[in-house]
Amino acid sequence: MKLFVDTGNLKEIEQLTALGIVDGVTTNPSLMAREGGDPRVILKEICGIVKGPVSAEVVATDAEGMIREGREWAALDPHIVVKVPFTRAGVQACKTLASEKINVNVTLIFSAPQAWLAAKVGAAYVSPFVGRLDDIGQTGMSLIQEIVDLFTNGGYATKVLVASVRNPIHVIEAGRMGADVVTCPPAVIDQLFKHPLTDIGLEKFLKDWEKAQAAKA
Ligand code: E4P
Repeated sequence: MKLFVDTGNLKEIEQLTALGIVDGVTTNPSLMAREGGDPRVILKEICGIVKGPVSAEVVATDAEGMIREGREWAALDPHIVVKVPFTRAGVQACKTLASEKINVNVTLIFSAPQAWLAAKVGAAYVSPFVGRLDDIGQTGMSLIQEIVDLFTNGGYATKVLVASVRNPIHVIEAGRMGADVVTCPPAVIDQLFKHPLTDIGLEKFLKDWEKAQAAKA
């Protein structure tokens, strides 16, 4: 399973990429708005750092506008994946962009039928939002299993990109269910690293080593 980072922040992307764990980046209009500045400049820089798929979302709501914005995003860098929301216009735009060999990530997926329709029009990725489903009392991860099964049985090449991830359990369940990608905010990636027994164990190893050195001296 690939790990993407869900942020538009260059510093966070640089730091995580340096660890060798980042395969790609996802952004959305809320994340880009948080950064300020020219999103084209920021996204171009992100592509230079990560050298993997980088999702850039359209803000038009009509199909023509989405297609125009999608072509503009795609022309920015070969790593760009055009993100369109799952609406009728988004589906139509996905069909056109995919026919032009532009990779499309259909976002705001909250049901298996939505994922299926996106796959039918050639989406490279679908982004089901697990955390937002949990937030309204549904089990977000059940949707991932449904979509993985649907795509496997139907032979669709569309990748399942698990989004709106809130904790390490989402990440590991996604992998066990056979999702292709999980996109995590940096705070969740921090949680993936942490275990108190690692910290306690390392502290003890170093103390024992120091004691042994002091005894030799
Ligand atoms: C995915 O591509 C979205 O940017 C993101 O995962 C949304 O997450 P949120 O529900 O935490 O805003």
